[in-house]
Amino acid sequence: MTIHEILKMGDERLLRIAQPVTEFDTDELHLLISSMFETMHAENGAGLAAPQIGVDLQLVIFGTNQINPRYPDAPLVPRTVLLNPVVTPLGPDEESDWEGCLSLPGLRGMVPRFSHIRYTGFDQYGDPVDRVVDGFHARVVQHECDHLIGKLYPMRMRDFTQFGFTEVLFPGLDAAADD
Ligand code: NI
Repeated sequence: MTIHEILKMGDERLLRIAQPVTEFDTDELHLLISSMFETMHAENGAGLAAPQIGVDLQLVIFGTNQINPRYPDAPLVPRTVLLNPVVTPLGPDEESDWEGCLSLPGLRGMVPRFSHIRYTGFDQYGDPVDRVVDGFHARVVQHECDHLIGKLYPMRMRDFTQFGFTEVLFPGLDAAADD
């Protein structure tokens, strides 16, 4: 098991434009991805981007086949590995909802995101990924892919009256859901 330390907001490595992955299906890549899943699960994250562990690559993981205690009411998003992603909004519709991020532990904010998107990219074997999604799935993808262009969710917020500490905003939430 490898649990990586997650970089917190303020670390310059979270602000970089990540480099594309050029070699697929390598032992090094598989090891990195499995350690990212271990880290995400250890932290009850909905997703994790390579820059959050200081790795300068266009690589995100997200989804789970189980209910996440941090987002108990969220619909399931399939377990996904996504390299070199391209996200395209399908229309102008937006919706706002609460987001957290493992790089901003203990905080939540109300973030507008495109409601409907298409995302493309590759999996760890170099096979193409091409999906049209909406709602929570679309939100998670936009959040994670933003990490690859140096954007953290507060940079997408428009209303800072809806930004605060999870324990204050959601006092009834599971103690494990601390960020
Ligand atoms: Ni995040």
